[in-house]
Amino acid sequence: MPLLSVDELTVTFTARGRRDVRAVSGVSFSVDQGEVVGLVGESGCGKSVTSLALMGLLPKRGVTVGGRAEFDGTDLFGLGDAKLREMRGSQLAMIFQDPLSSLNPVVPIGVQVTEILSRHRGLKGEAARKEAAHLLDRVGIPDPRRRLKEYPHQLSGGMRQRALIAMAVACAPRLLIADEPTTALDVTIQAQILELLKELVDEEGTALLMITHDLGVVAGLCDQVNVLYAGKTVESAGRRELFASPTHPYANGLLGSIPRLDAPRGEPLRPVRGSINDQIAWADGCAFAPRCDHYTLECLQGTPELTEPRTPGHQVRCVNPVLSPVGAGDVAVIEAPHIVTGLETGLETGPETGPEAGPGTEQPAPGAVTAVAAAAPATGEPSGEAGTVPTVEPAGKPAPGADVTTAGGAAPRTVTQARDGEEPGGEPAAPSAAGEEPTEAGS
Ligand SMILES: Nc1ncnc2c1ncn2[C@@H]1O[C@H](COP(=O)(O)OP(=O)(O)O)[C@@H](O)[C@H]1O
Ligand code: SF4
Ligand SMILES: [Mg+2]
Repeated sequence: MPLLSVDELTVTFTARGRRDVRAVSGVSFSVDQGEVVGLVGESGCGKSVTSLALMGLLPKRGVTVGGRAEFDGTDLFGLGDAKLREMRGSQLAMIFQDPLSSLNPVVPIGVQVTEILSRHRGLKGEAARKEAAHLLDRVGIPDPRRRLKEYPHQLSGGMRQRALIAMAVACAPRLLIADEPTTALDVTIQAQILELLKELVDEEGTALLMITHDLGVVAGLCDQVNVLYAGKTVESAGRRELFASPTHPYANGLLGSIPRLDAPRGEPLRPVRGSINDQIAWADGCAFAPRCDHYTLECLQGTPELTEPRTPGHQVRCVNPVLSPVGAGDVAVIEAPHIVTGLETGLETGPETGPEAGPGTEQPAPGAVTAVAAAAPATGEPSGEAGTVPTVEPAGKPAPGADVTTAGGAAPRTVTQARDGEEPGGEPAAPSAAGEEPTEAGS
């Protein structure tokens, strides 16, 4: 039985006089002990709301949470406040995106760490200070005794994030939820933080739910990946399977939009066209239809179900998935280090990303140029506080002068089959978002 299993999670925000917002509308996944599971998707797709719902941190008023979430057999949504609070310290922990706003600015770091140790492990006085210093040391903060006396503003961004991680792991949680923990950090620090999280998983067997919009982070860290779009899982697969055969047109487009260092000079970027604003309600069909190059009339016959069109366990919510064989270019994307993961940047560069690393994943191709920059975020997500209404930005803006007519999937596209009622050989025009009802995320 998985440590955490989430089944058809839904979260709806209601406010008087305003239309309900279905921020999460049917997300299911599970996380095993010692496993890293990624939730990936562009801004506003419901990643933070999912994590806040699991932690019981959404406001009670105006929010309805549905579905099931079981942690080690316990129904998380059935727990009372006191029990949930107790679990949050001892078994579940969360790292938020913005370390500065997650720390109390007027309380020294040491007090903030020792408070957790005192509340959840009963450590007091010098014993608590000693353990706090040990934790800071463990997350790589130099001179921890001195740092314990300092205030958050006296620490660099990377140190603040490390301090937050120290606080999150202070009670050796069995499940750690990291919501964009590296988005606010520069690339070198990102690599260190990711390495640290990986160590935790390897050494402590912690289950890690990694929330990110950065495919480089996913490639370097996750075992299993769930791609979300407009509040629903649209593709779920093992990391290698997903990178080798992105099958949902959105996931396929995301991978194809990553700039590659080996691309011929002047080759236009291939963004996923449109923005997350260009979507329809799932009840009316596939929310991705207005942006999809694989769109057919069938896409608007209700919400597509998750199916396994390629291999068992590789789930895709699409009626016309990208099933073309993986072309040489696509294999190169995963074999060569052109997707540069956070782990491969910065101080430690190396092809191994885990004990199972082998040919076909992050191994640099012989003679390949080793890149030193992180893969550009494929989704252009702005930093924002978890749980707040994020600014929705276009997913992958075309570079100036880029040929946007080539926007779309990375893999060779399958020819859209003519279906009943369509002109043979002609693809129906994608529904125009402008012509649709006003849309909301995941509604
Ligand atoms: N308090 C709120 N009230 C209404 N809508 C919200 C609220 N918080 C988030 N949302 C909506 O939920 C959707 C998902 O948000 P979020 O989970 O923060 O996205 P992200 O994937 O960027 O983390 C967005 O469309 C956002 O507008
Ligand atoms: S082909 Fe249809 S169902 Fe699949 S992603 Fe495109 S619009 Fe959605
Ligand atoms: Mg978020």
